[in-house]
Amino acid sequence: MTEPPLEPATRPSPPPPLRRAQTPPPLPRVEGGFKTVLADPPWRFANRTGKVAPEHRRLDRYSTLPLEQIRRLPVPDVVADDAHLYLWVPNALLPQGLGVLEAWGFRYVSNIVWAKRRKDGGPDGRGVGFYFRNVTELVLFGVRGSLRTLAPARSQVNLIETRKREHSRKPDELYGLIEACSPAPYLELFARHPRPGWTAWGDEAAPDAVRRGRQHKGYAGGRLAEESLAGGFDPGRWSRAVAG
Ligand SMILES: C[S@@+](CC[C@H](N)C(=O)[O-])C[C@H]1O[C@@H](n2cnc3c(N)ncnc32)[C@H](O)[C@@H]1O
Repeated sequence: MTEPPLEPATRPSPPPPLRRAQTPPPLPRVEGGFKTVLADPPWRFANRTGKVAPEHRRLDRYSTLPLEQIRRLPVPDVVADDAHLYLWVPNALLPQGLGVLEAWGFRYVSNIVWAKRRKDGGPDGRGVGFYFRNVTELVLFGVRGSLRTLAPARSQVNLIETRKREHSRKPDELYGLIEACSPAPYLELFARHPRPGWTAWGDEAAPDAVRRGRQHKGYAGGRLAEESLAGGFDPGRWSRAVAG
């Protein structure tokens, strides 16, 4: 039996429109250019309103930018001739991330993996993913001109293992790693939690900015449980933990 058409008064109202992308404000400059840039762009996913998407209508975490606008940011104009770039890129957008790195004048040389851990050190399997359940995120590392990493980098492994916090918030541990391995002056693009010694740029970068999205109430970052670190890496144990 076919349903009668809805009366106008009972028709569901259309969902509110998505936020419109803002034109990014001018980038900051320093004499001689920034030597090191960290960027966590508001990548736009094909499914803009899915539960995990930044622009999910009810959760409304932050605005995103079309890829072309990210590529066109005048990063080459504000960095030194010899410089480092640390660029967060979602696993699904790796080719696009490499394209942005090159468009900003850097060449890809390496990467750092953030492995999201539970308190007991096992992989935090609450992540999402269409093909696999993602428990890692990638930071692409690019070099412009000629600039080696600083001496401490020779013993720095390309892995950060911490617990995750609110949606899209990256681990603070990355700042310490960068400060040990790459020279100042430091610029963070699309910053949300400004850090002393860094120039922060982004529409939520001001210290008094009211950030959208849910703020994490309990965990404030930091180390995993001591006992989980003491035993060293046991991939067998962790794959069992994920499966179980
Ligand atoms: C992926 S989040 C950054 C998360 C941050 N790294 C953290 O750890 O919390 C991207 C940021 O870019 C900001 N953003 C979005 N559109 C922007 C624009 N047009 N200009 C400047 N910032 C923008 C968002 O508001 C958001 O704060």
